[in-house]
Amino acid sequence: MQSLTQHLTTLVSDAFAQSGYDRHYGEVTVSNRPDLGHFQCNGALPAAKAYGRQSREIAQHIADRLQTQAIFKEIGLAGPGFINLTLSDNFLAEFVQKMADDERLGVGPVGQPRRVLVDYGGANVAKPMHVGHLRAGIIGESLKRLFRFMGDHVTGDVHLGDWGTQMGQIIVELAQRRPDLPYFEADYTGPYPQESPITLADLEEIYPAASQQAKSDPAYAEAARQATAELQNGRPGYRALWQHFRNISVAGLKEDYDKLNIHFDLWLGESDVQELLDPMIARLQAQGYATESDGALIMDISEPDDKKPMPPLMLRKSDGAVLYGTTDLATIEMRVQELAAELLLYVVDHRQRQHFEQVFRAAYKSGIAPAQVGLEHNYFGTMNGKDGKPFKTRAGGVMKLKDLIELVEAAALARMAESHVAEGYDDAERQEIARMVGLAALKYADLMNQRSKDYIFDLDRFSSFEGRTGPYLLYTAVRAHSILQKAAEQGLAPGPIRPPTMAAERLVMLQITQLPDALHMAYETRMPNHLADYVYTLANEFNRFYNTCHILREEDAGVQASWLALTQLFRRVMEQALTLLGIEIPERM
Ligand code: ARG
Repeated sequence: MQSLTQHLTTLVSDAFAQSGYDRHYGEVTVSNRPDLGHFQCNGALPAAKAYGRQSREIAQHIADRLQTQAIFKEIGLAGPGFINLTLSDNFLAEFVQKMADDERLGVGPVGQPRRVLVDYGGANVAKPMHVGHLRAGIIGESLKRLFRFMGDHVTGDVHLGDWGTQMGQIIVELAQRRPDLPYFEADYTGPYPQESPITLADLEEIYPAASQQAKSDPAYAEAARQATAELQNGRPGYRALWQHFRNISVAGLKEDYDKLNIHFDLWLGESDVQELLDPMIARLQAQGYATESDGALIMDISEPDDKKPMPPLMLRKSDGAVLYGTTDLATIEMRVQELAAELLLYVVDHRQRQHFEQVFRAAYKSGIAPAQVGLEHNYFGTMNGKDGKPFKTRAGGVMKLKDLIELVEAAALARMAESHVAEGYDDAERQEIARMVGLAALKYADLMNQRSKDYIFDLDRFSSFEGRTGPYLLYTAVRAHSILQKAAEQGLAPGPIRPPTMAAERLVMLQITQLPDALHMAYETRMPNHLADYVYTLANEFNRFYNTCHILREEDAGVQASWLALTQLFRRVMEQALTLLGIEIPERM
């Protein structure tokens, strides 16, 4: 089904066409002057320019034609020719009823589903996840869910960082600590032990130590560089060791992501395109795209009208090691060839803009990505602390994700106590609610910002049950649920939706009709904040309705049943929207 705004656009466009003007002037939007009408069309102004007429006159013609439609209660003109549309209450109720009757809440799927690959998360093997990976996970998960809901065939891939220099650093560090291990013996013929020689905790301690050492000790750094190249070239002991690192890391990462309710379809990484690298590089060389430079292999990707110089993409270092860009290029090939992906969305922070610009250019130039395949870097800004600098621990270090989640849960528990939420529930349930409230706070605070911008992480504000926060949204959704439950206990059931008689009721209905547009907007722009804005406005409208229309005390049974139906629909819309933001709603609070 068409969204309400689309439906109105069709009507008004028809009116323009019937009056001899181009249809496109009939675009209808939600009114920015709700005191004058629910919707508006400003097309008479540009039409007047194009056709050399008076805008007010054109608007009058269109209004006269629309006047015949029963769906409008009022059509007004304002200023030089703005057309204000007020819907009839009957029509509004019918429209909302249709949404309620539809399993998809009136949201039509896209006409042409595509195969979409969302690359998000981007955690690295051996490095603990930190808050920098948080936004990638939160935004990516939401986009994945949104695209899937809109009907595309979506695959989410974590794209693990598992082939870079950190691997060589850990190998070198472990070789120093445990030279006795068979992995380091050059002529060892195997087999290598099944058990990992180290635990995740070891790994989390070894990596920072190694990377620190590599920064200050050139010989160590050189050894690590060499170990990375040897690993990539297939040295058996290093491969066996690397496999252990990867396995234990992935087990830990899965736990972390599960806690965040973030789920990947694929756990592939940079290393999974190993086999494709040599043939790809050979082909690029044969085709003349890759050229040698100081023993390294590079690809020129500059374009004549570049404003800033665009550095070449380095495909292979002189020691034979490949780089981040090389694996990303081969990964595009794999995604296009093996997964038949038509659109690739990379949810990675803005500091990697040049990297992706380089890789995408290389992919299009060489035909690895055919022109009709979409490659998009859907970048995001930094999560900052209150000091405006990238978020750190109190001690100034990088905060691990696990610690952050704990912090957020504790804040949620404290706020719940303050606001008398979940009072008297047993500890296990309160803890579970705190988990959901904390995650809602964290995720909503992220998703409500336009993703390309930085934002300031202010836990006190985000965990409040008041204002533009995740906890406020959960509380409102739970409130709707509890009204419905109380009603059911009293033997009251939702009934047909009636034309609204109260202003607050009308406004909830109008806001509900905007769901499909909010989803389409978020989908088209790959910006979940449109949906986040939408749910907040909706929750506000519902609370106003709840405060003015005393649902359970209403005496007219028909009105009461209609209000219950509206409450139920509101709850479904909230659930759908929050699910697409990756936010879970507790049963009760
Ligand atoms: N592992 C990278 C990092 O931590 C992010 C990976 C993003 N995806 C990609 N295809 N490059 O920065």
